[in-house]
Amino acid sequence: MSILRRTPPDQKRPVDIVVGIQWGDEGKGRVVDLLARDYAAIARFGGGDNAGHSIEVGQTKLALHIVPSGVLVEGTKLLIGAGTVVSLQGLVKELDTLEALGVDITRIAISARAHIVFPYHATLDRLAEKQRGSAAIGTTGRGIGPAYVDRVARLGITFGDLAKPEALATKVRQELLARAPLFAGADDVPREEDVIGETLTLAKRILPRVVDDVAWLDDALAGGGRLLAEGAQGTMLDVTFGSYPFVTSSHTVAGGACTGLGIGPSAIGGVLGVAKAYCTRVGGGPFPSELLDERGERLRSQGREFGVTTGRPRRCGWYDAVAARYAARLNGLDALFVTKLDVLSGFERIGLVTGYRRADGRACGIEALGEAGLRVEVEEHPGWVDDLRGIRRIADLPQAARVFLDRLAELTGVPVTAVSVGPERSALAT
Ligand code: IMP
Repeated sequence: MSILRRTPPDQKRPVDIVVGIQWGDEGKGRVVDLLARDYAAIARFGGGDNAGHSIEVGQTKLALHIVPSGVLVEGTKLLIGAGTVVSLQGLVKELDTLEALGVDITRIAISARAHIVFPYHATLDRLAEKQRGSAAIGTTGRGIGPAYVDRVARLGITFGDLAKPEALATKVRQELLARAPLFAGADDVPREEDVIGETLTLAKRILPRVVDDVAWLDDALAGGGRLLAEGAQGTMLDVTFGSYPFVTSSHTVAGGACTGLGIGPSAIGGVLGVAKAYCTRVGGGPFPSELLDERGERLRSQGREFGVTTGRPRRCGWYDAVAARYAARLNGLDALFVTKLDVLSGFERIGLVTGYRRADGRACGIEALGEAGLRVEVEEHPGWVDDLRGIRRIADLPQAARVFLDRLAELTGVPVTAVSVGPERSALAT
C-alpha cells in the first residue's frame, strides 16, 4: 500500500488529492512536498494567501502562501487553480522570493479564471470583523471572504482580465461603485486610479504566468503523468460542511478539487487526509477538544503552534476523532498521514476525543458542534518518552505510540500510512 491509496495508480484516474481533515495547519505542505516527485503537476484548488504552508529542506525554510508546495521539487509543474483567489502583491512577492532562491518560476502558472484579491478586499475583511464584534470569525485579514463574495456576486475581476487594460479599468470602477457603501468609516478608502495603476503595473510581472488552466492541465498530463491536487485550510473550515459561520469562504473538502480545477469526479484516484496527532485551531469558533490548561500550553510550545500567515498563537487540544470521522466521510479518505507525532513525546498521558455529550449529558455527534455546553469524552493513553525523530518505520515506534496510532486510525475509520516524526523532509515513518 502506498502512502496515498489502497490500490495501485490507475491511468484513467490521474488525479490524487491531499486535504487537511482538521482546522487547517495539519502539515499538508510538507506532505505535498514529499509526494511531489511522483506527479507531473501540483495544483492548488481553493483559498488564497490565507494559507501558510511551511516546508523545510536542508537549510531552506520556506513559508508559502499561494504557490503550490511542490515548488522545491525540480521539474514539477505548478498551477494556482481557478478556484483560488489571489493577491497580486502577495503573488509577486512569493515569485520574487522563489526566484532569489534560484527556483525556475516559469514552471508556475495561474489560472485566468482565478480571482484577484485587491488590497481593498483586506480592508473590507477587517471592517466586517470589526462589525461582528465578539462574534468575530478571527479571519486572517487577507481579504479572502470579500473576494469570494465578489466572485459569486459576479463583480469579481479575474487574472484573465489583466490582459485587457480598458475592460479591467471599467470593471474596477464598477466594483468600487457597487462596494462604496461598505467603505463608510474606513481610513483607507480605495482610489480608483490608484487601484487601476497599481494593478496594471503588477500585471506586467504576472501576465506571463497566466494560462487557460483547462488546456494547461491537459498538456501537463498528456504523457500519462498524474496531478496532485493540494488542499488549503482544513475540512472543518469548509464553507458548507465546516463549523459555519466560523469557516473560510471556500470549499476545502476533496470535492473542492473538482470544482476548483475543472476535473470530473471520475478522474479522482486517491484521497489522502492529513491530520496532526493532536488538534489546533486559529481564530474563533467551536473547538470541543481544546485544552485550556498547561497541556494546551505545552502542545503550543513543543509544536511551535503559531500561525505562518498571521503569527497568532494557535489554540491546541487533543485529536478529535468525532470531527476526524466526519472528515473521513466528507472527503472519502483512502488513507491518513499523521503529522507531528514527535510533539507528543514526553506527555505522561495523551488524550483522544471519542465522543461528544450535550449540556444535558446526552451523547451526540458532530451535528452538535457549536452548541453551548458541549462536552467531550476523552480516552487517555499512556505516553512515551522516546525521541522519535530517527524512526523510519511505523513498526519501530515505541509500543505506546503504536497503540495510540492504531486507536486513532480505528476511531477515524481510515488506515494510517505515514507519520511525520520531525520537521525535516526525511523525518518520516511509513
Ligand atoms: P479567512 O480564510 O481569512 O477568511 O479566515 C476564516 C477562518 O479560517 C479563520 O478562523 C482563520 O483563522 C481560518 N484560516 C484561514 N486560513 C487558514 C489556514 O491556512 N490555517 C488555519 N486556519 C486558517
